[in-house]
Amino acid sequence: MRVAVVGATGRIGRLTVEALERAGHETVGISRTQGVDVYTGEGLVAALTGVDAVIDTSSSAATDHDEAVAFFSRSTINLLEAERQTGVQHHVLLTIVGLARFYGNAHAAGKRAQERLVERGPVSWSIQPATQFHDFAEMATIWTERDGSATVAPLLMQPVAPADVADVLAEIATGQPHGRCPDLAGPELQDLVDLARRTRAARGTPIRLIPTWSGIHGRDMAGDVLLPGPGARIAPTTFDDWLAGETMSRALAPPGG
Ligand SMILES: NC(=O)c1ccc[n+]([C@@H]2O[C@H](COP(=O)([O-])OP(=O)(O)OC[C@H]3O[C@@H](n4cnc5c(N)ncnc54)[C@H](OP(=O)(O)O)[C@@H]3O)[C@@H](O)[C@H]2O)c1
Repeated sequence: MRVAVVGATGRIGRLTVEALERAGHETVGISRTQGVDVYTGEGLVAALTGVDAVIDTSSSAATDHDEAVAFFSRSTINLLEAERQTGVQHHVLLTIVGLARFYGNAHAAGKRAQERLVERGPVSWSIQPATQFHDFAEMATIWTERDGSATVAPLLMQPVAPADVADVLAEIATGQPHGRCPDLAGPELQDLVDLARRTRAARGTPIRLIPTWSGIHGRDMAGDVLLPGPGARIAPTTFDDWLAGETMSRALAPPGG
């Protein structure tokens, strides 16, 4: 099959391209660095010509509610219209578990708008909700790091390995449209502050962590809000195995690479 990956240079997109190619499929990478912009629509119809399925793993760093909703809405409208024009048969969206249970977060508002557009759109679809990725804890500390400290919400989560998510997306895109798929999660319950501490220690960049609900992750995300629902698909890679693999590959990477 010929499968386009939107956000192909991103954390999940890159791994999804690898998973598809390992399984013998042809891929088309879509991102601004590859000359295609889903927000403006530039280059989209040309990129999707001859494509059987699209996996949308794009993202926006917007922390403003209206900006996040505008990015995910506009880019999805453009994408679905270009897919309709070019005869794409299957649209696969990666989304976040529990979006109907928390309302204070701008990114989540954008993802909810995106899900609605896909569900009502002209192309047969699969929507795969996933829990937070194993690298979420490190990102959360980077967003708020200042003078050797970072604020992190003490979120309860069941994080999943990025490569496991990519494998599932590749499998879904090369099958029949499925509608809403069962939640995808990793094998263990974790606390975000603890994950952040362990990740930064493994990286050799320890930091003072201040647990708080006053940042971008508020009390509406506390308790079991982020946890997978009944019948979830449980991916195999534990946080510790992922962290050990990451630490090893960083140690082996060429200097500056
Ligand atoms: N992080 C988590 O824990 C988690 C959990 C569940 C679901 N998700 C979802 O997973 C998805 C992927 O997240 P990620 O962390 O892998 O994202 P990421 O690393 O930030 O990558 C985002 C990708 O989107 C592309 N992109 C951004 N704006 C674009 C535009 N206008 N046109 C074309 N491409 C554009 C970027 O490439 P360019 O900059 O080159 O354009 C990049 O390839 C997101 O939708 C997120 O909501 C994340």
